[in-house]
Amino acid sequence: MTALNPDTLHPLPDQASMAYLKPLVADHPKVEAGDFSYIHSFDDPNTFPEQVKYAFDFIDDKLIIGKFCSIAHGATFILNGGNHFADRLSSYPFPIFGCWGEQDPGAWPNKGPITIGHDVWIGFDATIMPGVTIGNGAIIAAKSVIASDVEPYTIVGGNPARQIKERLSRQDAARMQGLSWWNWSVERIQAASDALMNADLDALEAIANSR
Ligand SMILES: CC(C)(COP(=O)(O)OP(=O)(O)OC[C@H]1O[C@@H](n2cnc3c(N)ncnc32)[C@H](O)[C@@H]1OP(=O)(O)O)[C@@H](O)C(=O)NCCC(=O)NCCS
Repeated sequence: MTALNPDTLHPLPDQASMAYLKPLVADHPKVEAGDFSYIHSFDDPNTFPEQVKYAFDFIDDKLIIGKFCSIAHGATFILNGGNHFADRLSSYPFPIFGCWGEQDPGAWPNKGPITIGHDVWIGFDATIMPGVTIGNGAIIAAKSVIASDVEPYTIVGGNPARQIKERLSRQDAARMQGLSWWNWSVERIQAASDALMNADLDALEAIANSR
């Protein structure tokens, strides 16, 4: 089946609105995406790179997306190329115009990469700010602005986003992290998908322990 190949651009041949990210960003210098993560777009999912803003090759940063992530239409990732100085007497970027003096302002602010874990769901029109790490299994509510790190298996929302609830108890979240099912073979994940959808953690662990 087409959808079992993470290198397929359109996993559902009749659904042009969905695309697997891994092949879509294979040649993108600033974006990495893991197997089976997908973008849904009401326009054209192939324009996903336009959702990664301020992606300049002369700046050392990246957007790194794990496996099995669901990314909604309009989710936007702001990289460090959009940063101005916030600790000077003016935030206006005088040096880039080359006509206001030759002063070297020092290194421009860089908060590092955006790192999205595995099995993360990013809702419609959410905005992810530079340097943020989103833990495995997290959910980002629609229209949220994520300006700080998100704990694994939590649901966050709002602007600035705050924790809405925990998806799993701390113990179950730790068990899920230990299983790291997203790293299993496709065959084992196929066998596990009912347990994943039925929230049957004991069954999932049994599959993990089976040969
Ligand atoms: C985050 C989300 C999953 C929560 O759903 P839920 O678990 O059913 O939670 P509820 O609707 O019961 O809401 C729980 C709380 O979160 C708040 N909340 C829900 N969505 C929110 C949002 N987008 N921004 C801010 N707060 C939100 C609710 O107001 C509620 O607050 P309260 O406890 O103070 O009353 C859902 O609201 C959401 O945003 N889904 C994304 C949909 C989407 O974008 N899909 C794209 C297709 S890939």
